[in-house]
Amino acid sequence: MKKIMALAVAAILLPATTVFAGPPAPHAAGIESKDYQWAKMEGEFKAALDAKGEPKKGEEGYEICGACHLPSGAGRPDGTFPQLAGQHTTVLIKQMADIRMGLRDNPTMYPFAKELVDPQELAHVAAYIESLCIPVDHGKYEGPDAAQQIAKGKELYEKQCVECHKKNGEGDKAKFYPVIAGQHYKYLLRQMTEIRDGHRRNANPDMVKVIKPYTNEQLVAISAYQSSLSMPGSMCKPKAGAKKK
Ligand code: HEC
Ligand code: HEC
Repeated sequence: MKKIMALAVAAILLPATTVFAGPPAPHAAGIESKDYQWAKMEGEFKAALDAKGEPKKGEEGYEICGACHLPSGAGRPDGTFPQLAGQHTTVLIKQMADIRMGLRDNPTMYPFAKELVDPQELAHVAAYIESLCIPVDHGKYEGPDAAQQIAKGKELYEKQCVECHKKNGEGDKAKFYPVIAGQHYKYLLRQMTEIRDGHRRNANPDMVKVIKPYTNEQLVAISAYQSSLSMPGSMCKPKAGAKKK
């Protein structure tokens, strides 16, 4: 385990290619292919969804993930590593399976994602992550015009995004729609831009259609709004004794 942690630290500091001599991640045909079928029920993805995940049994498997995503799942406010805590097991399993099969590119994480031995361990780790409360001190939009950006973003979000991502950013577990509440502003902005531009190859085609015409300015506003959302009952309690803002 120590060795894995050291590798993870090296991976944060260096480009992945200089650290790992292992084979590169596979490259599966994604959204650019006409045969692409989003969330196709087969292989490891289906097997992990069918397996029963138990949070307690996933704690150990999560250890290597914590090197980047932190033991709390909080990731980093600068958006390099996403917040994971409280995410739906279905979404976690889909993203992990997609990364493992090369449908979503993530060269930094790939060598670690490969460490999970089988669909059962994937299910356990996903159950563990889902059981964590969502930290409340994530990265938000911090410009002086935050109030205007959030108001503009709310208007856009409620037109075309709320149908799937829901009022409080809670997504939809059964449909693989991710939780957005508590996610870092910079991560949201990067993912939306990549989804719009066709670079997140495992994306949902219906969302891609919706987000295609959005300008960078509009994505900034929506990200500002989304990072202001919170899901009642799923957020961590502010730390006892923490300073009042
Ligand atoms: C070396 C750092 C690193 C390690 C270790 C790591 N990850 Fe990641 N992970 C990342 C990065 C970077 C991203 C975001 C990639 C991007 O921008 O698309 C990510 C993204 C994810 C996502 C997608 C989140 C979303 O909202 O779309 C999931 C799920 C995830 N990681 C789970 C895990 C799990 C489970 C483990 C342990 C088996 C793990 N990660 C280990 C760096 C890491
Ligand atoms: C048809 C349902 C649907 C609609 C409409 C939709 N989304 Fe999504 N969204 C999804 C799904 C499904 C994913 C995960 C895709 C995948 O499988 O990788 C996603 C992913 C995302 C992510 C990345 C989250 C993460 O954790 O990586 C962001 C940000 C996002 N959507 C924002 C938006 C915004 C903004 C809009 C409105 C302009 C929107 N979505 C409209 C279904 C939808």
